[in-house]
Amino acid sequence: MSESYLVKPFCSPAQGVAQVPGSKSITNRALILAALADGETLLRGALFSRDTEILITSLKQLGFSIEVNKALHTIKVSGLGGKIPAKEAKLHVGNAGTAARFLTAFLTLSEKGKYFMDGDEAMRQRPMAGLINALRSSDNFAHDVHGKETLSFPFTLLTSGYLKNCEVDASASSQLLSALLMILPLSAGAKVLMSGSTVSEPFVQMTEKMCAQFGRPITQVNPGEWRCENPGSFISPGIYDIEPDATAASYFIALPALSGKNSCVRVSGYNPKGLQGDTAFAEVAQACGAVLNNEGSALVINHWPEIKGGTFDFNNFSDTFLTLATLASLANQPTTIKNIGHTRKQETDRVLAMATELERLGIKTQPTAKELRADDSLASLTIFPNREALKTASAQKPVPIHTYEDHRMAMSFGILGSFDLWGDGRPWIEILDPQCTTKTFPLFFSALESLRTRFVSVAVDGGAACGKSSTSRTLSEKLGFLHVDTGAHYRSLTHVLLQGFVNPEDTHAVNNSLSKIKLSTFISGNSAFLALNNKVLSEAELRSAVVNASVSQFAAIPEVRAFILAYQRNQVLVAQQNGFAGLIMEGRDIGSVVLPQATVRIYLEADASARNQRRKDEGIVDSIVQRDKIDSSRTSAPLICAPGAMRIDNTNLSLSEVVDKIEKIILEAGRVP
Ligand code: CDP
Repeated sequence: MSESYLVKPFCSPAQGVAQVPGSKSITNRALILAALADGETLLRGALFSRDTEILITSLKQLGFSIEVNKALHTIKVSGLGGKIPAKEAKLHVGNAGTAARFLTAFLTLSEKGKYFMDGDEAMRQRPMAGLINALRSSDNFAHDVHGKETLSFPFTLLTSGYLKNCEVDASASSQLLSALLMILPLSAGAKVLMSGSTVSEPFVQMTEKMCAQFGRPITQVNPGEWRCENPGSFISPGIYDIEPDATAASYFIALPALSGKNSCVRVSGYNPKGLQGDTAFAEVAQACGAVLNNEGSALVINHWPEIKGGTFDFNNFSDTFLTLATLASLANQPTTIKNIGHTRKQETDRVLAMATELERLGIKTQPTAKELRADDSLASLTIFPNREALKTASAQKPVPIHTYEDHRMAMSFGILGSFDLWGDGRPWIEILDPQCTTKTFPLFFSALESLRTRFVSVAVDGGAACGKSSTSRTLSEKLGFLHVDTGAHYRSLTHVLLQGFVNPEDTHAVNNSLSKIKLSTFISGNSAFLALNNKVLSEAELRSAVVNASVSQFAAIPEVRAFILAYQRNQVLVAQQNGFAGLIMEGRDIGSVVLPQATVRIYLEADASARNQRRKDEGIVDSIVQRDKIDSSRTSAPLICAPGAMRIDNTNLSLSEVVDKIEKIILEAGRVP
């Protein structure tokens, strides 16, 4: 991937299964717990990203045997029941908060160990003090290069091999507390006390639940006081399944809000009642208008017609606030995100980063980026939506979005850029340093791409009563396509011309009548209806015996065909602008004249006797053979099987058999290579 990534807007609805990786928080906790367990644990559905690779590499450096299978998403860890083979090591934790905190606490179980630990520049600024102070009471000390005690990276950690009672200030990060809780079961008799409160409480619960899953439940005996009643090394569950990352899932929950009304995205293995607090994002999404369904073990995001603003407290699932913040710029009213002060000390100052980049896009925030820079106690953000401002900002060229080495900045603005702001697919957001997504979601942009469907236009032609309408209607409903019945166009015009007693042979009278007709489209469900002077004719009017008897004669008049042609071709745009995944247009000349470039062209046919029977069954008086004769012999756009069209004879096929057959062809054509 290059220095920047131009986000291509979704011009057709996002559809498919989102390739969400395993949870980073669970993978890194499971690695620590498995290493502290006796024996082997196979982690399945694991995440491979910079943060988990850092922890895997560190554990290997410390002498643990770890086998990784990236293709199968598994990690086999040979736990040593609390022993750490290497007494000395140099570890680099990058900017991985979990690895930094978890390893620091983990290493203190090594008696008389000496570990040099460093991280990226950003990690050197991130909070460690609460943890280092807590570990000091158990005779573990962090020294800087001059041998002086320090509270931040880089440091040399001199370890005692035990954890006694300790008190931790975890107000800056819940990871400071979680790190201690994971070594508590191996520290018989000890208790961990939390001074004050912590942020992101659900992550502490995740740690508690996972300790129990690894056989050593820890309990909060009093508020803010944890003990392990049954201490010992962790017990390997043998196989441990890691849930898909709920924070990463938030981007795909958000996508249908921006990618057209027939979007449908599926997140497999999603567990709303699982270990991750970030599943709460789905509830916020629902409050903001998303239509979500839990189907078995999958979350299905069906449709998000309008982004509703509001006020939300993101303290407990703050990693997802960036997803909502970017969406909020397209909402129907301002959105306030509260209690996110602690995110100002994460990968970057996330609140400031978000405000700065939204302002770059012309969006007003409160506080402003300037106010945030001046006061680091500000802990909420209000976003004022403004599509016109977005257009003004990106009118000349796509706006470069700075990501501050923060994967969540890159991904949330990647989702915003998926919105077709200009209605013509023009990119308007450019993500700088897109590689920062490797921290938790290396394949984020390809996962996004895989949900892009190509707008598919389908031409279905065939003789009278050959099953075009029922087939096209059923397919449209199944696939979220717009159905256009051009037969109804000719029937409508025929009805009006008959009402005006227009002689089909009198070209002047035909033209004169047509000139008084204004054409427009009315969409209901998956069907587009032609309105003549704003009126859609009833089925009874369209399919009356007189219309049946005259429609082919009127449809053969070149002036009539010329009159309706541009309108018919424009239906492609109508379908795209209304969020349909494709268009199915049926008639006689669709593959040959109206949409000769259609992605899929089908010619349906059936025996005349079968077709006559179908009409009889419907109780309709119709002269099928006679209509077919006129339709195929006329000079203007006769009924033909267009060159390259696929012929399907449905005389002996049921409706669902025909539909299945064509559906496969359409899905194949819609796949974006
Ligand atoms: O439903 P059925 O197949 O019997 O006919 P329809 O699709 O409602 O079309 C009625 C008539 O409109 C046809 O018999 C043709 O004369 C005319 N038509 C056409 O000329 N070109 C089209 N693209 C569609 C219909």
